[in-house]
Amino acid sequence: MDGTDASKAARSRGADGVPAGWTRIGTVVGDASTSGYTFILRSLQGKLGDIVATRVEVPADTDGSKRVATVWGRIVGISRTNPFFPAEAAQELADENVRFLDTVLSGSRDHLEAEVLILGTTFGADPGATQLSPLTYPVKPSAEVFYPGADDVRRLLTGDDETKKPPPSKLHIGSLIARGDVDVSLGAKQVVSRHLAILAMTGGGKTVAARRIIRELIEIGYPLIIFDPHGDYLGLAEKQKLFPKSRIRTWYPMLRVRDGNLGSVTELIEKMGKRLTDAQQQLFLYLLNNTKVTDGEEAADYIRKMIGHAEGIATKKRKKDEHLDEELESIRLPTIQAAKRSLEFVLANLQQMKGNNERLRSQERFKGYDFREMPDPWDSPDDIVSPGLVSIFYLAGYDHLNQSAIVSMVLEALFAHRSTLSGVIPPFQAIIEEAHNFIPSRQEGTDETPSLPTIRKVITEGRKFGTGLVLISQRPSRLDETTLAQCNSFLVLRLVNPNDKRFVRSVMENLSEQDANILQTFGPGQGIVSGQAVRFPLLVKVKFDEDLVSDAIGDEDFIAEAGRWKPDARRKANAESVARNLDGERSSGFSSSAGTSGAKTGTRSAPGTDRRTKKKPGRRGRGGVKPDY
Ligand SMILES: Nc1ncnc2c1ncn2[C@@H]1O[C@H](COP(=O)(O)OP(=O)(O)OP(=O)(O)O)[C@@H](O)[C@H]1O
Ligand SMILES: [Mg+2]
Repeated sequence: MDGTDASKAARSRGADGVPAGWTRIGTVVGDASTSGYTFILRSLQGKLGDIVATRVEVPADTDGSKRVATVWGRIVGISRTNPFFPAEAAQELADENVRFLDTVLSGSRDHLEAEVLILGTTFGADPGATQLSPLTYPVKPSAEVFYPGADDVRRLLTGDDETKKPPPSKLHIGSLIARGDVDVSLGAKQVVSRHLAILAMTGGGKTVAARRIIRELIEIGYPLIIFDPHGDYLGLAEKQKLFPKSRIRTWYPMLRVRDGNLGSVTELIEKMGKRLTDAQQQLFLYLLNNTKVTDGEEAADYIRKMIGHAEGIATKKRKKDEHLDEELESIRLPTIQAAKRSLEFVLANLQQMKGNNERLRSQERFKGYDFREMPDPWDSPDDIVSPGLVSIFYLAGYDHLNQSAIVSMVLEALFAHRSTLSGVIPPFQAIIEEAHNFIPSRQEGTDETPSLPTIRKVITEGRKFGTGLVLISQRPSRLDETTLAQCNSFLVLRLVNPNDKRFVRSVMENLSEQDANILQTFGPGQGIVSGQAVRFPLLVKVKFDEDLVSDAIGDEDFIAEAGRWKPDARRKANAESVARNLDGERSSGFSSSAGTSGAKTGTRSAPGTDRRTKKKPGRRGRGGVKPDY
C-alpha cells in the first residue's frame, strides 16, 4: 500500500479510531488466549464462519513501548444461554406440563456466546494490511468486537500485495458462507504446483467445485488433463463456445504396448488373468519373453499373439515335435491349455470393456461429441498437453484395474516428459475424479493398482516439474494417506461418515476440531477451504456455474426411463443364444471357446472354465468383469 492509500485508510477512521464501515457486534468475555477468545455477541449480528476483528495493545519491542494490533478471527461456534432460565426450571415445567408462557420466567434474557479462532494480527492504519503476524498477547476481556467492512475482509483474505505487478493469479471459487459479498479465491500458483484435494460425501458438490476450478484454470490458459470415469466433465466439450481461447478434447482409452510400458501392460495381463500355478506362470513368462512386441500395437492384439503362440506350442507338444525350446520340455499340455485360457479370459475382458466404452460413447446424449482415440502419451504428449488444451479421458466402461492402468500409463509418460525436461510439453494440471480407485489405501488392495506408485511419484516430485494434481473423492478414508498428505490445499465439503471425518482431520494439519464438527452440517457446495492456497481456513460457498450444466451429463430421470423402457430385441436374442451355448458347455463340462468368439461369449464362458480347472477365485480375489458405469 502506498502513502496515499494509507492516508485514505486513516482518514476513513472515525474519531474513536474505528475504520469506516465497521460495526460493533459484541464484547470479549472470560478467558482469552493467543489462539482464541469468546465474546458476547449482540443478537443476530454475526454468524458462524464470520470474520470478526478486535483490537489489543501488544508489546512493540523490548523497550516497553506498545502498539495497537487489529486481531482477526473467525467465529467457529456460537452458544446460547439464559441464566434466568436454569435447567431446574425447565425440568419443573416439563414435569408439570406447564407452558413457559404461563409462567413469570423471563425468556428474553438469553445471550449468545461466540467462540473465535484467531487468524492473525495486522498493524497500522490499513485495517486489511497484507502483512499478517501471529498474536503475541491475548485480547483483553471487555474489548469491543467488530464486524469489518467487506473490502477490508476481502483484502485480508487474499493477502495480496497490491503493489506487485502483475498481481498473482487467483482461482475464484465462491464466497464466504457467512458473507456473500466477500469473494474467496485460491492462489493459482499453490494449486498448480502443490496439489489440491476436493473431498465430500456423494452429492456434496465436488464435481461442481472441480468444474469451477477447471474453468478458472482454462481462463488463464493452463494446460489440463481430466481423468473422467463417469463422464462428469464431458459437458465442457459441449460448452466449447464459452472458452474461445481453449480447445476441449474428449479422448477414449486405448491400451497400446510399447517399450516404455511393457512392464505395466504385462502386469495388467497378469492381474486380470486367473491365478496361475507355478508351471503355468513359467509358461506365461516364456510367452511374454518370446512373443514379439510391435511397438504401439493394441494390447488386445498382443495378447492375441500370445494366445496364438501358446496354441503353436500346444500343437508341437501334441505332435511331439522335437524343435521345442528346452525351457518348454517340462511343461505339460494341460498347463499350456490352462495358461492359454487365462489369456483368452483377459482378452475377452479387454474386448468387453472396450465395447462398453464404445456403447456408452454412442448414446444419444453424446450425439455430436467428437470422441477420439487417445494419443500415445510417449510419442505425442503434446497432443494431450499444450497451452489452452483441455484433454478429457472418458474412462467409463472399463473396470477399476484397467482405468488405473490407463491413468498410470498416461501420467507416467507425461511426467517422464516433464521430469526429463524434454521440452515437449508445458507444465500441466491433472484432475483425477474418483481418486479412491486410483490411490486406494493399503486396506483396499493396493497391489492391484498400477496408478498408485505413479501418482505417489507425481505428487511427491511434481512440484519441481510443474505437474500438479487435483484429487477428488467421496471416500477420503479409502485414500492412500501418504499421497493425500502431500496435498497442500484442501476443499472439504459435506462429510458425514465418522471414519472419513477422522481421516480428514488426520491429514489436514490445520483443521480445527470445531471445523471438523461442522462438516456434516454443510449443504451442497458449502465447505471449508484450507492450506497453502488460502491464507487461513475459510468457510466457503462454492459458486455454481449454471452455464456449465449440460443435459448430456445432468441427473438422469430413471423413473421416466423405467416407465418408457422396452427391451432391445437384438440384444435379447443375443443374450438368449449366449445362455443356450453356456448351458451346452456346462453339460459337456468343458469350454473351449473362452474369449475367442466375441466378448460376451468369452467372458461368460471363462468363469466356467475356471470352475472346471480350479476352485480358487481369480488372482488376488479378482474374477469376472466389473464394468464401471
Ligand atoms: N456450489 C453449489 N451451489 C449450489 N448447488 C450445488 C453446488 N454444488 C453442488 N450443488 C448441487 O448438488 C448437486 C450435486 O453436486 P455434485 O455433482 O458436484 O456432487 P458430487 O459431490 O460430485 O457428487 P458425486 O459424489 O455423486 O459425484 C448438484 O447437481 C447441484 O444441484
Ligand atoms: Mg461428482
